[in-house]
Amino acid sequence: MTAIDRLYLELSEDLARSIRSGVLARGERLPSVRTLAAQRAVSVSTAVQAYRALEDARLIEARPRSGYYVAARPRALPEPETTQPPVVSQPVPASLLAQRVMQLATDSRYVSFGAACPGAELFDQDRIRRAVTRSALRHRALLARYEFGQGQEPLRRAIARHAMALGCQLDPDRIIVTNGCRDALTLALRAITEPGDVVALESPTYFGLLNILRHLGLRALEIPTHPRHGLALDALQLALDTQPVKAVLAVPTLTNPVGACMPVAERRRLLRLLEQHDVPLVEDAIYNDLCEQAEYRRAVKSFDTRGQVLLCGSFSKTVAPGMNLGWVEAGRWYEPLVALKGDTVGSQPAVVQLALADLLGQPGNESNYRSLRAAFAQRVDEARGLVAQAFPRGTRVTDPPGGYILWLELPPGVDGLALFEACLAEHIVIAPGCMFSSTDRYDHCIRLGVAGAWGDAQRRALRRVGAIATAMTRADRRAA
Ligand SMILES: Cc1ncc(COP(=O)(O)O)c(C=O)c1O
Repeated sequence: MTAIDRLYLELSEDLARSIRSGVLARGERLPSVRTLAAQRAVSVSTAVQAYRALEDARLIEARPRSGYYVAARPRALPEPETTQPPVVSQPVPASLLAQRVMQLATDSRYVSFGAACPGAELFDQDRIRRAVTRSALRHRALLARYEFGQGQEPLRRAIARHAMALGCQLDPDRIIVTNGCRDALTLALRAITEPGDVVALESPTYFGLLNILRHLGLRALEIPTHPRHGLALDALQLALDTQPVKAVLAVPTLTNPVGACMPVAERRRLLRLLEQHDVPLVEDAIYNDLCEQAEYRRAVKSFDTRGQVLLCGSFSKTVAPGMNLGWVEAGRWYEPLVALKGDTVGSQPAVVQLALADLLGQPGNESNYRSLRAAFAQRVDEARGLVAQAFPRGTRVTDPPGGYILWLELPPGVDGLALFEACLAEHIVIAPGCMFSSTDRYDHCIRLGVAGAWGDAQRRALRRVGAIATAMTRADRRAA
């Protein structure tokens, strides 16, 4: 092997490692050949050879007149189509199903794809423990005092710094610390709605959001949702023009369960629409840090100049789930929200808040996000491959640009709830699609979360779910 061959191979292997580990995200534009050559102090022809080798390995692709890009994830199966929920608002019916699924999903006797919670082993538990111990030592007096107010100032400053990665310039004095994102969303909705009001949201959606609406006596207006781009804005516009929508509740980055990310131009359009109708947006940014593509981490709030957006976030999926800390920047509704928080949920333990501020300020925090993104990307790839091999023909599956949730539409003959029960009998937990809507539109769907434990038992179990679903389609064909 010549020295030149060695150079280009070293360079292509180095780039391949960055792609596989997620440092270079799928779909991301790569430096031009000349820039790469200059950056790595190699000749232009070595850089060209390195890119060609990566093209051969299908890790990157050349786009005419545009340059080189990290290749998109291979398509295992077709994706679901834009959803078509009914165009009427309705109260959210009570259901114990979600509670049952979540209880089973955290029971160690089951192999679980039921929850959307990262496994404890993915977090640096020692780093978290050291921060909590330091905080308890330094601030022990706070353990002996009542905590009032909108949250510890060092944490609010750390959240404002964190929000810069979402494209937002937030004033720490207007950030309110909450018990996780759910609490933030609940407070936000309580501040802007009355029981009986209509709230528009993605369809399907996270069952926790439906539960919040139900407990607040709000009506859900489910809006058609594209598997890649999220809320269908033409449908939302129609809803705003024809129905008394009081608020929109959206997860623009990595919706749960579909994993859609709204393009940046549509984020601007969404905000314009809401400004025209003077309807506030409650924006759930819980998954923004887990998105592989930096442009989608940008919050709708970053375009907001009128305080129209109530931005909610949390660190439950990325830093320390057990701390259960979140936040809200409530735009025009800051004062009522502070009062509501004081009157209802009260404050969060100061020592824990200060430990989180410490964690967020550490230089390792950004690399923690990167390694989570890389771990989830690998699992999602693998899980999609297993779905392609083991699930019945006609299955559709999402291809999210980050996170750890897959949404599957199953062919005729497979009912999500029946599949859930059949899997349960084999000690496997999945989440049936009916949990994610107050309509019956997703009875043939399931959600798979791949952020928990991951190994051979999970691979076997996922193949088994596919085999059970396949047997159901065969039984259905025989019965027909
Ligand atoms: C979209 C979405 N929002 C909010 C939450 C709840 O967040 P937290 O645990 O911080 O209350 C979840 C949890 O799965 C979620 O998926």
